[in-house]
Amino acid sequence: MTEKWGSKKKINFGPQNSVFLKKDMEENEKTVCMCMDVTEIEIINAIKNDNCRTAQEVGRITGAGTICGGCKGITEKLIAENL
Ligand code: FES
Repeated sequence: MTEKWGSKKKINFGPQNSVFLKKDMEENEKTVCMCMDVTEIEIINAIKNDNCRTAQEVGRITGAGTICGGCKGITEKLIAENL
């Protein structure tokens, strides 16, 4: 059967999806910047809510990357994935 655009689909929020959401949440709680204790979701929020487009801008909002700089690569990857 082919689904048409605009057709109503049932969304299953059963236990399998709950596990998926929980896993997603745990992923987002990963610490990206050990020096400043900044999590992935904090960086994503800085990208989406504060319009940060560079690792330097994310650092200004969250503090990530402002000490040793070891997390700048991951921060740049998150920027590329979340623009
Ligand atoms: S790990 Fe982010 S500044 Fe050191």
